[in-house]
Amino acid sequence: MSAKEITRILYGGDYNPNQWPREIWDEDMRFFKDAHINSATINVFSWAKIQPEEDRYEFAELDDIVEMLSKEGYDIVLATATGALPAWMARKYPEVERTDYQGMHHKYGHRHNACPNSPVFRKYSKKLASKLAERYGKNPHIKCWHISNEYGGTCYCENCERAFRVWLQKKYGTIEAVNKAWNTEFWGHTFYDWDEIVAPNALGEGMWDERSAFAGMSIDYKRFNSDSLLQNYKDERDAIRQYDKDAVITTNLMGTYKELDYFKWAKEMDVISWDNYPSYNTPWSRTAMTHDLMRGLKDKPFMLMEQTPSQQNWQPYNSLKKPGQMRAQSYQTIAHGANTIQFFQLRRSVGGCEKFHGAVISHAGTEDTRVFREVAQLGAELEQLGDTVLKSRNEAQVGIVFDWDNYWGLEYASGPSVDLKYVDQIHSYYEYFYNHNIPVNMIPVDADFERYKVIVAPVLYMIKDGMKEALEQFVRNGGTLITTYMSGIVGESDNVYLGGYPGPLRAMTGVWVEEIDALAPEQYNEVLTGDGNKYRCNLVCERIHLEGATALASYTEDFYAGEPAVTKNSFGNGVVYYIGTQLDREGKADILARACNEADITSIVEGAEGLEIVKRTKEGKELYFIMNFEQDGKKIPDVFVGCTDLLTGKVLEKEMPVHKYDTYLVEK
Ligand code: GLA
Ligand code: ZN
Repeated sequence: MSAKEITRILYGGDYNPNQWPREIWDEDMRFFKDAHINSATINVFSWAKIQPEEDRYEFAELDDIVEMLSKEGYDIVLATATGALPAWMARKYPEVERTDYQGMHHKYGHRHNACPNSPVFRKYSKKLASKLAERYGKNPHIKCWHISNEYGGTCYCENCERAFRVWLQKKYGTIEAVNKAWNTEFWGHTFYDWDEIVAPNALGEGMWDERSAFAGMSIDYKRFNSDSLLQNYKDERDAIRQYDKDAVITTNLMGTYKELDYFKWAKEMDVISWDNYPSYNTPWSRTAMTHDLMRGLKDKPFMLMEQTPSQQNWQPYNSLKKPGQMRAQSYQTIAHGANTIQFFQLRRSVGGCEKFHGAVISHAGTEDTRVFREVAQLGAELEQLGDTVLKSRNEAQVGIVFDWDNYWGLEYASGPSVDLKYVDQIHSYYEYFYNHNIPVNMIPVDADFERYKVIVAPVLYMIKDGMKEALEQFVRNGGTLITTYMSGIVGESDNVYLGGYPGPLRAMTGVWVEEIDALAPEQYNEVLTGDGNKYRCNLVCERIHLEGATALASYTEDFYAGEPAVTKNSFGNGVVYYIGTQLDREGKADILARACNEADITSIVEGAEGLEIVKRTKEGKELYFIMNFEQDGKKIPDVFVGCTDLLTGKVLEKEMPVHKYDTYLVEK
């Protein structure tokens, strides 16, 4: 056990006493105790305070904050404060500010906007992290380092452009290889010198809707930008490690955020942490999927670094969380693999754009609020739960592939439809498993497929080297692969696999896709299954020829009526399903249910429709989270009757109602 191992569920969140007079600090300590808060994330945006001038560091206030929290026994999450630049730095070194997609070089303002390739930013961010670690790294209460904050965005400045060329030289070696990879002969964009290559923003290859005339180049720029920001993370991480050998180091991620290849980031992070901000109409299945993705990044439990106790401020409509909702959402988070529940933020700010953002302590400054009471109740429950869920795992026999290169490739593609949105597509398949309480792991393209019975790889547009072989082997050994339209089209540089779609998947799917039709939002086709079911379909309709596969459904409309729309192929000891059009929810369920039945995939609790049930396993014990995110009127499934709810101590009785946002946790 490391000296700084976290042995309880961290419960707390962003705490900014530096924004408040000292009298408030004592009150905070009293309130937090009452709310059973045991952790605080500090110093997230304090760079300007700690380094008021280029050559002067000022730690007195942070010393006091750390001392106060340490004395009270809090587990401290210490941020490195590099998420927002000090104004003096921007004035003296304008290069630390970014150049945006439109080509505008920014002045001082805002946050999360340092140029990742600015030597000045890199020098001072590293220096700050190392000064903090040197000063506080030995403090046993500092259990976690929080580097910067929500890394993101893209810079197109000249420093980045130069760094991009270096990145390309490393990747491709020669300019000829670059030209080949990007197929620059198209539109005669052949490069003869590295310095001719410019960043692909709106002033370069950018087109409408941030699409690109050369997707291969733009995908490389995304990879480069993700790597650049990751280098910033590594700079600080390595600086911290010199002084603190034990605390875990992380940065707060943002779920399905497009700009960063989180699977690559995960390899450099000790633990994944993320910020969960669904909007009022985000489906619960989507939040569940995102948690599963965050767990999947390292295939390990994660931290919930931020959620709001009630309201947000940056959505168009910032609704309150209803009574019980924050509690239910917190347990959903834990159910899917979180070991912490942290809020943004503990005290609501007095000014700035987040003054309407929810917080544990409201502007009224009292404990006598609904939100405070709900936070305190949850805190008490988690405290008595102790380490029950810690060190448990989520197991799954179904893997759904998620891949940032595919995300970028699919959404840079010009055609066949602007409505092909990567995350929506993945979610529309995840939803089936969610609705049936079938556990899913979200997996990278280079996962160990053999661990799963079923792999679902929707819109697997880009097939990178090695993937064809890995998938074929998985299926040959008896696995079930489900893939869809817009799969097997390009290789890693976005050039098409010639010889017919779905390229490398053609042999295992047993189909050749000749054409891809795009349907406008008001247009539909329909499929008819072999056993007589009809389902609507839209978005894209692929014209499929069978090459060994059998048709499970065919189109009923248009000139391709009667042609296959969904197919199944035996390959080795396994099977491959190919879904050639976007089926409606029922149609998708029909096909996925067949595949699951045949692969012997069952829901963890039968007959519990409308309840979300998730299992975490620990040393032979099974912990079931039973949640209702739909309507009142659900009942406790019979298998749980007689079990004790670990959250309240209540014994679950037959036919007991489960109201909306009710949550139970039982061990079986
Ligand atoms: C993000 C940031 C926080 C805060 C919240 C508000 O998650 O990390 O600093 O701005 O959003 O929702
Ligand atoms: Zn830059």
